[in-house]
Amino acid sequence: MPTPPRFFTSRTEIAGILVAELARQFGTPTFVYDAAVILERIGDLAAFDQVRYAQKACSNLAILDLVRRHGVLVDAVSAAEIRRAIAAGYSAQGDPPPIVYTADVFDAESLELCVEQDIHVNCGSADMIDQLGSRAPGREITLRINPGFGHGHSRKTNTGGRRSKHGIWRQQIAECVERAERCRLEITGAHMHIGSGTDLEHLSRVCGAMEKAAAKLGPGLKSISAGGGLPVVYRPGEDYVDLDAYYALWNATRKRLEEKFGHAVRLEIEPGRYLVAESGYLVTEIRAIKRQADNTFYLVDAGFNNLARPVLYGAYHPMSIVPEDGDMRRPEQEVIVGGPLCESGDIFTQKKGGFVTTRLLPEAKVGELLVIECAGAYGSVMGSNYNSKPLAAEVLIQDGQVHLIRRRQTFEDLVRGEIIPGQSTRTEHQDQ
Ligand code: LLP
Repeated sequence: MPTPPRFFTSRTEIAGILVAELARQFGTPTFVYDAAVILERIGDLAAFDQVRYAQKACSNLAILDLVRRHGVLVDAVSAAEIRRAIAAGYSAQGDPPPIVYTADVFDAESLELCVEQDIHVNCGSADMIDQLGSRAPGREITLRINPGFGHGHSRKTNTGGRRSKHGIWRQQIAECVERAERCRLEITGAHMHIGSGTDLEHLSRVCGAMEKAAAKLGPGLKSISAGGGLPVVYRPGEDYVDLDAYYALWNATRKRLEEKFGHAVRLEIEPGRYLVAESGYLVTEIRAIKRQADNTFYLVDAGFNNLARPVLYGAYHPMSIVPEDGDMRRPEQEVIVGGPLCESGDIFTQKKGGFVTTRLLPEAKVGELLVIECAGAYGSVMGSNYNSKPLAAEVLIQDGQVHLIRRRQTFEDLVRGEIIPGQSTRTEHQDQ
């Protein structure tokens, strides 16, 4: 289990590279990822038979390629996530399946792709069984089961229980077995993911629920998946899940199933956040400093179009200033950190419910850099073009080498595909 990091409110480097140099080369806002952190996190989970990356956390092709080269398989929730995995070098088929499509619905495109490319499907609804069965009988499938409870760092990331749309309701398992038989699909695995950013107590309860579900599914079961949900440390006082204890619980569950079924059962884990959150930094520039009554605002050039977690969940991210003069011991003050968007929720220092709060950060001046940390998971991928802001650039640092892995969007990227009736747009001309 890793030791919780110490957080500092001033920094000059990321992965040994000067932040000022990164900003000069790539501009701001830019996401910077430290590959070494991702590899360390993969290593932490080595006890599990298979780590399967929930790429929704950060699906840049370079990140997928990195984890693939280190033995990690991948989960996909859309047609384009399947295509990303293939583009990053994953084969469509294999044992265990390199790519698993886990979702509660098929849209037309994802069904087509799963059928065409023989992608393994982890069904989150009974209707998916019928839809796949009518197109591709004879396949193996797994079931994502809602164990009847869930837990997450926010109500919005709880994916279990009776009011959750996710997974097959535990009392519907028998019906799903019948449906699968009817359309000649073979159920070979069970999967549970109860939420994101949860804790050991809730995660552990999943083992018992899995054992009950597995008993209903029978000896055809070749694999079980513990899902994702592992938390990371975003602020002082938080801790990681005791991974040894967590593995021990799951391993015991697996062993009991192996005994019951008389054959091996593969144990998978499916983290998103745990692998990438701490590797990522959002480098921004302070563009304005406002003092109003007793409040000081640092307004930076990134907004919730770049990092939506604070506005969506009241999520806390560590922050640091990059002092131009190298003075790491400047006096600190309570500040509100916000972005450029024309919306009052565009504040990085807010609590659940949208309540604006402050952060103790060093004194700074306009033009200095501010780094929002622990931003690798659900950062860039949840970016939007709100206020016609381009998606940020992304940079990967590995072995001291700096790689641009996504260039910043341009205006042409933004308006590509838009059409004024009766006119051909500038970008259409350019595209031809
Ligand atoms: N497996 C499935 C089927 C999932 O739906 C998810 C996350 C994961 C694995 C990975 O969960 P993780 O290990 O990252 O907790 N946007 C939110 C998180 C949404 C998670 C969605 N599903 C956030 O920023 O906190």
